[in-house]
Amino acid sequence: MRRLADLSPRQQLILGGAAVGGLVVVIVVFLLIANTTSSAAVDQPIAFNHNKHVNIAENGIQCQFCHTGVYTSPVAGIPSVEKCMGCHGHIATDNPEIVKLTAYWENQEPIPWQRVNEQPSFVYFNHSSHIASGVTCGSCHGDVGTMKTAEKVVDMNMGFCLDCHTQQENKDALIDCVVCHR
Ligand code: HEC
Ligand code: HEC
Ligand code: HEC
Ligand code: HEC
Ligand code: HEC
Repeated sequence: MRRLADLSPRQQLILGGAAVGGLVVVIVVFLLIANTTSSAAVDQPIAFNHNKHVNIAENGIQCQFCHTGVYTSPVAGIPSVEKCMGCHGHIATDNPEIVKLTAYWENQEPIPWQRVNEQPSFVYFNHSSHIASGVTCGSCHGDVGTMKTAEKVVDMNMGFCLDCHTQQENKDALIDCVVCHR
């Protein structure tokens, strides 16, 4: 093995250039990966299709049938395997995705759904107060009823929250820092 000091200055320069070039490539690749992982689509364990369920026949399934907390609690909630099996114990049982679903049910394992929207822990958010004030799911989540698995289409940063709060009648109360940071 030759040590770096044994190389001629020219060889050292080429090596150095290659190292810097390599680093640039690593950084660019990292940025590309970072960029794709922060994109809207999320890999989910089962190819759930919102559009199919929300638009079944004439009367589709309401959002709150599955996200039962939206009217009553801070958290919307993700439906249990049991709720899915209420229909899929007898509907589309041959579909490969339903076969996967049934396996979770038989093993009594929850489906490891990945979160799509998530606030940092220092932000307080409450679904029920927004739904009670008539704010629609779509203003924060986009048109989920046309999606397959849910995608993040709105960046719910502080500016987004404040934008709507400053348009409310009681805006002074709603833009106080402690409303969202308790
Ligand atoms: C109220 C009844 C009902 C509930 C509850 C329900 N589904 Fe379905 N699901 C259906 C119907 C109806 C279809 C359409 C079947 C068909 O096309 O043959 C369907 C289709 C599917 C399909 C196949 C979709 C496709 O792209 O072809 C999957 C996967 C699925 N459901 C997963 C789920 C999961 C996961 C849950 C629980 C979170 C769930 N379903 C809850 C009624 C229901
Ligand atoms: C004012 C904005 C807003 C509205 C309106 C809203 N959401 Fe959300 N939703 C959020 C935010 C913010 C999060 C992330 C919360 C967190 O990480 O604590 C979230 C998370 C969720 C989640 C995953 C976490 C959980 O709470 O279970 C579901 C499911 C969900 N929303 C469904 C709905 C449905 C269904 C509606 C309409 C009935 C709705 N949301 C209306 C802002 C909103
Ligand atoms: C049949 C049950 C079912 C119905 C009906 C349903 N959802 Fe969902 N929803 C799910 C499941 C399962 C997931 C987790 C997989 C995913 O992210 O798509 C989910 C995820 C979501 C998420 C992302 C949660 C997160 O992690 O941030 C949002 C937002 C959401 N749903 C909104 C809605 C809205 C709005 C409607 C009505 C238009 C609706 N859902 C109807 C089952 C349902
Ligand atoms: C499209 C409009 C809209 C958006 C977007 C919105 N809000 Fe609100 N928010 C409201 C309205 C209207 C009220 C008033 C509810 C009331 O007076 O009871 C409210 C009230 C609140 C409250 C006080 C009520 C309670 O439950 O404690 C909190 C906290 C809050 N919002 C957090 C947030 C956060 C965090 C975001 C961003 C992730 C957000 N809001 C985005 C309209 C909005
Ligand atoms: C309506 C809700 C709401 C109100 C009111 C609010 N914030 Fe925030 N704040 C948020 C949300 C949501 C985030 C998280 C943003 C994100 O993750 O992109 C945040 C993030 C922050 C952060 C972290 C900054 C960062 O870049 O991560 C600070 C600091 C902060 N807020 C300070 C304040 C102060 C000071 C006030 C009062 C002047 C205030 N906030 C009022 C919703 C609110």
